[in-house]
Amino acid sequence: MTNSPVPEWIKVVNLPIKADERGSLVIAQSDDNVPFLIKRAFYIFGVQENGSRGFHAHKANRQLLICIQGSSLIKMDNGTEKTEILLNEPNKALLVEPQVWHSMEEFSKDLIMLVLASDKYDENDYIRDYQQFLEYIKQK
Ligand code: TYD
Repeated sequence: MTNSPVPEWIKVVNLPIKADERGSLVIAQSDDNVPFLIKRAFYIFGVQENGSRGFHAHKANRQLLICIQGSSLIKMDNGTEKTEILLNEPNKALLVEPQVWHSMEEFSKDLIMLVLASDKYDENDYIRDYQQFLEYIKQK
């Protein structure tokens, strides 16, 4: 299913690359190719090969995931449908909307994943239990 047609509830953004003999520069800009105001950035590196993280949903926080080095298979579940997207290009960004259960899996050892977020860190915005996630979206 990897890289099969992307369902309408998933958005992949191809960030613009400016490449010349000096190297490549990728641009992520709020309200341009990032559909929210970026309030936070964090990144993940030093992972174990084939490792995974995530396994949660957010109530309101929106995130854009970019594997600026290496690759990861991102699995997403909106409570009705499941899909997965392979992030393996430094300019391929995946929008993970709130109320989508997601995990980052199958890490390559050299992974550096940049995450841009619409909100500051707030543990209360997390749903870390899958059954609670299903109940939460049913109430919506
Ligand atoms: P965690 O949510 O477990 O990471 P992942 O979703 O990748 O599995 O976060 C790891 C730790 O870092 C946890 O103690 C919360 C903390 N943290 C922050 O303090 N600020 C942040 O912006 C993030 C993403 C995590």
